Amino acid sequence: VAELASERGLAVISDEVYDRAVYSGCEFTSMLAFPDLGENLFYVQSFSKTYSMAGFRLGYLVVPENVFALCSRIQRTISGPLNLAVQHAALAALRTDESWLADRRTELEARRDAVVVALSAAAETRVVRPEAGLFTWLQHAPRYSTSQLTASAKDSGVLIRAGSEFGAAGEGCVAVSFAVGGEELEVGLARLIKVLENLHTGATG
Ligand SMILES: Cc1ncc(COP(=O)(O)O)c(C=O)c1O
Repeated sequence: VAELASERGLAVISDEVYDRAVYSGCEFTSMLAFPDLGENLFYVQSFSKTYSMAGFRLGYLVVPENVFALCSRIQRTISGPLNLAVQHAALAALRTDESWLADRRTELEARRDAVVVALSAAAETRVVRPEAGLFTWLQHAPRYSTSQLTASAKDSGVLIRAGSEFGAAGEGCVAVSFAVGGEELEVGLARLIKVLENLHTGATG
């Protein structure tokens, strides 16, 4: 991508929020490793995923100087200044020794595997084994709609994200998160599988 973009002078928006949740067998290369991209690189980073600070509205961009003011205006309008507690949390995150990240990655990888194994056993589904990140994509049977699946899952106390929220091409898929683990994940998976089986057999409830 970097080569192609450099050759053709294309801009690249590189969202690298999952750079610390990359699983075994996969090598991650940041777009920052390609200086030839120069002013054409828009690098996106967040504290949400690495430091479990989702909702804190804290992240940063590395962008060309000429678009900085525009980005800053958007940021000011949408989320405004960050409160002091969030700033202290961010400082603590940055100053804490990062050795814990390796254990966290191992834990996330085990969750990823558990989710993939469990959901692969459900009838008429295909599951993507993600190489990074906190979600897996589940493709469900076409005999029911994605919104039927998300609504039934919600009724069972499980929130999953419809692929169609990301565009029409996402119909037929749902995103299943493994941001939580342990018993909560086990219970959620068992309920979701039950929902899938019920929709598969045409039962209600
Ligand atoms: C790929 C990706 N980029 C960015 C974000 C947004 O993170 P933030 O919490 O900083 O808005 C998400 C959140 O789910 C994500 O999955």
